[in-house]
Amino acid sequence: MTARIIDGKQVSRKVKEEVKARVAALAAEGRRQPCLAVILAGDDPASAIYVRNKQKVCAFSGIQSMMKRLPADVSETELQEVIKELNEDPAVDGILLQLPLPEALRSLEPTFLEQISPDKDVDGFHPINIGRLALGLPAPVACTPFGVMRLLEECGESLEGKLAVVIGRSHTVGKPMLQLLLQKNATVIVTHSRTKDLATLTRQADVIIAALGKAHFVTADMVKDGAIVIDVGINRDEDGKVTGDVDFGPVSEKAAYITTVPGGVGPMTIAMLLENTLLCYAMHEGNIE
Ligand code: GUN
Repeated sequence: MTARIIDGKQVSRKVKEEVKARVAALAAEGRRQPCLAVILAGDDPASAIYVRNKQKVCAFSGIQSMMKRLPADVSETELQEVIKELNEDPAVDGILLQLPLPEALRSLEPTFLEQISPDKDVDGFHPINIGRLALGLPAPVACTPFGVMRLLEECGESLEGKLAVVIGRSHTVGKPMLQLLLQKNATVIVTHSRTKDLATLTRQADVIIAALGKAHFVTADMVKDGAIVIDVGINRDEDGKVTGDVDFGPVSEKAAYITTVPGGVGPMTIAMLLENTLLCYAMHEGNIE
């Protein structure tokens, strides 16, 4: 079987267009513009690029973006103050604290993330939102797993009763994937570095979500004919080329559906950030509890 490629660029374009249409409809009703605030502390070049891309996509969709740039030596109190100010600003719907923080504050990242008001938590990283997700209540969901679910929808196949094997148990991908797949009535196994005989599990899987961060880790002998394979990995190979966690060529000969890296999950992450900003907007405008 040769896999069909689930095109993340195309799906993300669709999501961005949908958001743009919804924002335009709000404007047409005379409603205020949704607003995303991004906090960027320090001068990590990769973070600066991510943030610029987020601003560009906001501009495309008509969402206002507000940038709070802080120096690399920003103090804990100063950062807390900025978060507090944005929490209290009724014009701000979403707050994104770009990670990683400068070295001196890195160990405090969970503390800062918890200070963001849960109804402005567009990353879905707040413990309350993680709890709400586990309970099946409306909540912003971490953008990457949210984007994976949107890509799975594109396959047009029900997940009910299917066996999904998630490789990687991170707070940002593996664990929310478990909840989201369960919501769709899949049977889910979350595996990790200590899992014994992983290949025996993945060979039975109807859906494989590879999110461990090791180039070409998922090989063809680990994949069942006709499986759906979603590659969340972003690694650099020996030549410096961006590559996923899946050995794409051979695996795409067996799978029914597969994503590429780049061009798969990556473009979805930013699109789902827009979705989350609109969800927070709806909560603030009283459309959602
Ligand atoms: N840095 C890299 N990816 C992310 C993300 O999804 N959210 C935040 N806040 N920071 C990041």
